[in-house]
Amino acid sequence: MGAFIEAIDLHKTYRVGKIDVPALRGVSFSVQKGEFVTVVGPSGSGKSTLFYLLGGLTRADSGKVIMAGDDFAALSDAERTRMRKRKIGFVFQKFNLLPTLDARSNIAIAQEISGNGNRDPAFFLRICDLLGLTRRLNHRPSELSGGEQQRVALARALVNKPAIVLADEPTGNLDTENSNIVLKMLRQSNQELGQTVLMITHNPEAARYGDRIIHMRDGHVVQPEEDPQWSPH
Ligand SMILES: Nc1ncnc2c1ncn2[C@@H]1O[C@H](COP(=O)(O)OP(=O)(O)OP(=O)(O)O)[C@@H](O)[C@H]1O
Ligand SMILES: [Mg+2]
Repeated sequence: MGAFIEAIDLHKTYRVGKIDVPALRGVSFSVQKGEFVTVVGPSGSGKSTLFYLLGGLTRADSGKVIMAGDDFAALSDAERTRMRKRKIGFVFQKFNLLPTLDARSNIAIAQEISGNGNRDPAFFLRICDLLGLTRRLNHRPSELSGGEQQRVALARALVNKPAIVLADEPTGNLDTENSNIVLKMLRQSNQELGQTVLMITHNPEAARYGDRIIHMRDGHVVQPEEDPQWSPH
């Protein structure tokens, strides 16, 4: 067991017109292989920015992301894209489903673009069954509820058995029942496949689903007692 992801002194500042908006001001931590870590923190504390950097979707201004031993910054764009498709399952807060495709194709597309050759029809059906999607596979996103769309997005993230799942507020727009389905599925996938999971959440109850909580505030990782929104009881 070693570190699967390392964030080393990550800095990221957005520039809006002439104004610099610092989002990450030196974030370091590591996540072990097979760990289920949750990230909590107030709105604007830099959680989504961290998600994009860890997933190789944006570049840091300085600092490093090392995933499975590879330094993202040292990879070419093509290599980073390849790594992303093969190793990472993404769940976005706003689902990011393709509107013209039905649920089946939205899920299957992850298998097609991964290049893993890892098409496992039985696993596809099992994931859909566990997520209660079997009777919704012919529906397009506009014909699905928000909870169903998020479950399709989760199926898409998991269907390739990625080494790591990165999820940004996967339960942010869901009711309790749908949240529980999503959280249980992430936990089950983590336990059965030894998948590393990093989940961002606002919800303290959801945060407790993980093995460990990383608290963020103002672009830094802080101790729980420094997080004003965090009430452990
Ligand atoms: N594309 C962008 N351009 C300019 N500023 C941005 C951009 N994205 C984020 N920011 C700013 O960076 C800071 C961190 O934003 P980020 O989205 O990472 O926070 P967050 O913790 O995910 O917040 P939330 O809980 O509301 O999703 C905020 O001050 C935000 O306004
Ligand atoms: Mg966010």
